[in-house]
Amino acid sequence: MAWRCSGNTNIELIDNLVNASIISNERVIAAMRSIDRKHYCPRFSYEDSPQTLGYGATISAPHMHGYALENLEPFLRPGMKALDVGSGSGYLSACMAEMVGETGKIVGIDHIKELVHSSIRNVEKSHREWIEREQIKIVLGDGRLGYEQEGPYDCIHVGAAAPTTPTELLNQLKSPGRLFIPVGRDSQMILVYDKDKDGNLNKKELMGVMYVPLTSVENQKSFYG
Ligand SMILES: C[S@@+](CC[C@H](N)C(=O)[O-])C[C@H]1O[C@@H](n2cnc3c(N)ncnc32)[C@H](O)[C@@H]1O
Repeated sequence: MAWRCSGNTNIELIDNLVNASIISNERVIAAMRSIDRKHYCPRFSYEDSPQTLGYGATISAPHMHGYALENLEPFLRPGMKALDVGSGSGYLSACMAEMVGETGKIVGIDHIKELVHSSIRNVEKSHREWIEREQIKIVLGDGRLGYEQEGPYDCIHVGAAAPTTPTELLNQLKSPGRLFIPVGRDSQMILVYDKDKDGNLNKKELMGVMYVPLTSVENQKSFYG
């Protein structure tokens, strides 16, 4: 079950996510096995709970990363392009980069410059070549606006809760494409938007969650002083 999948090693953690039926897709399992969380979260690396990154940010719990990757898997096939909004530690961007392979591209965006720098260093610990050849590019910016320069994207993942779904993110999806985004203030829901080949949007509610807000730097700073 969610929150109960902690392990002593990365492999044990991922096995527990499989046994709890949180992840079942072979490509998701392989990606999460190949990216060791210790490079992104040095303390309590294999705990199935969010851990602080400083700056009012957290690395999300492994079960939430698992749900996101399972949901986005059809849009993370080799050669595809994805945007990871609120990329934080860089862990999820790295799993996505493993899935899209060297012909694909992941763009991570975070508005805290220290996190942008540390997430690049985190990726470099095991996959320096991904940064060198821009299989992962992590940029500083306001993710509420997406990152139009690199769009459109096969999928967009948002790792922080928006008060409402930003239109810019929907506009930067390919047709077909998928957006995975937590929305809400006190009560939050993961929404999944599918854009079909003709550009029509369909919205689905996935589950209730509790994420840090997708907000301004000033507002986020008020959480950590
Ligand atoms: C839950 S945390 C990190 C999640 C990341 N997926 C991980 O597991 O490491 C959410 C992130 O969203 C970032 N964030 C919040 N508002 C943002 C905005 N407007 N633009 C870009 N990043 C934002 C925070 O700085 C934080 O790193």
